[in-house]
Amino acid sequence: MKILVTGSNGLVGNAIHKLLNNSDHEHINTSWSLGGIASHVIDITDNESIEKVIEEFRPDAIINSAAMANVDSCEVERDKCWKVNVEGVKNLVNTCDNYGIHLVHISTDYIFDGKKVGGIYTEDDEPSPQGFYAESKLAGEKVILSSSVSSSILRTILVYGMHERHNIVTFVKEKLEKGEQVNLVSDQVRMPTYVDDLARACISAAEKKAKGIFNVSGEKHMSYLDIGKTIAEHFSLDKSLINHVKTSDLNQAAK
Ligand SMILES: NC(=O)c1ccc[n+]([C@@H]2O[C@H](COP(=O)([O-])OP(=O)(O)OC[C@H]3O[C@@H](n4cnc5c(N)ncnc54)[C@H](OP(=O)(O)O)[C@@H]3O)[C@@H](O)[C@H]2O)c1
Repeated sequence: MKILVTGSNGLVGNAIHKLLNNSDHEHINTSWSLGGIASHVIDITDNESIEKVIEEFRPDAIINSAAMANVDSCEVERDKCWKVNVEGVKNLVNTCDNYGIHLVHISTDYIFDGKKVGGIYTEDDEPSPQGFYAESKLAGEKVILSSSVSSSILRTILVYGMHERHNIVTFVKEKLEKGEQVNLVSDQVRMPTYVDDLARACISAAEKKAKGIFNVSGEKHMSYLDIGKTIAEHFSLDKSLINHVKTSDLNQAAK
């Protein structure tokens, strides 16, 4: 099948490209500007750029990995965040509707408030976004769900991998390699997700044109502190540089 990927230069977009390269599918990588692995320009906030590439490539599915994904930046650059994470999704939905394309969209566990006892959320749990990024991602989901477009929404958690794009693994590894201290909280627990697993899920959703919301994550519940220690152990780095802190000790823009 023909698959078009948006946000190809990101952490997830890159991993999708690598898997699609070793598959029978025809695919193209796009980003809002040329460079990196993107061969075509699609700025998801710009309908003209979407239309041009869709007319040329005529995909069966679009995997949308384009987003403003930095939680703290979304808190301060709200208009930009909304434009990409909501208006951009709206543009893709309209395109998929016009051309009969299946849409695979990546969302986040941040749409939940994290207060559920036991901490494991199902697809049916009630969202309760706590920050602007989360609000924008939930609004993006709603745009898709209120349309008649064939779609898969994959909600994922703390994606990691060895990639130039910063993520928890590269962040901790680089700090420890430089002999710098790292502050990691023990009171926030996540289920870290390996980027290749998420990429595989995105492609599978596109192949099956799977309809609905799917939670996609790693299986282990870990605090950031535990994640950091595991990374240090894996790369044989100095664990004693990792400081145990509490969320209330940090001055984060987003909750
Ligand atoms: N990473 C995580 O832990 C995590 C967790 C849950 C959900 N997600 C979701 O997973 C998806 C992929 O995230 P990621 O980690 O791969 O993020 P990422 O590395 O920041 O990749 C996002 C890509 O989208 C591009 N982009 C931004 N605005 C765009 C626009 N208007 N048009 C086209 N491309 C645009 C970015 O371009 P630049 O390269 O210029 O920045 C970047 O290459 C997002 O929907 C995110 O919300 C991620």
